[in-house]
Amino acid sequence: MKLKWSHTVLNIKNAEKILDFYVGTLGFQISDRGPLAKNGPEIIFMSQDPNEHHQIGLVVSREDEGPSNSLNHLSFRVDSFDDVKTMKNKLESANVDILPLCHGNALSLYFKDPEGNGLEVFWDTPWHVTQPQTVVWDTNLNEKEALAWVEETFKDKPNFTKLENYKSDFVNRNL
Ligand SMILES: [Fe+2]
Repeated sequence: MKLKWSHTVLNIKNAEKILDFYVGTLGFQISDRGPLAKNGPEIIFMSQDPNEHHQIGLVVSREDEGPSNSLNHLSFRVDSFDDVKTMKNKLESANVDILPLCHGNALSLYFKDPEGNGLEVFWDTPWHVTQPQTVVWDTNLNEKEALAWVEETFKDKPNFTKLENYKSDFVNRNL
């Protein structure tokens, strides 16, 4: 048996404001929405993947004050360095504060949705390195410059190696 990640459901307060962000800025499609039970709170299902009816569910039932504080972050992988740049531009045009962090194995953008839920969008680098590692990276670099910077910054950290070495070790560890 293998547990495969499918979705996360968040409790939220204000559907319209948050949908503007998840649909308008992040590009999710609403797959369904409706009351959870007769007179129950609304649930909104969203996805960017036809294989997942919902990757995120939002239940409009949050009552606590202040920014959301029990979720650290949801994280989304993108396929290319250009995708990271595109997301950075979208977030900037939506006036979202971004913290760009590199973990050696990923170039990430960290930010929050309008209710303070943490989010990450990242692209895998070709390397593994013992975690945790966090160094702020310069999002103005191009792909080649960014990868050269990652290698230089993390090459002397513990267990820095090509990602494929890490993956084959991981598989063998479980034999
Ligand atoms: Fe993360």
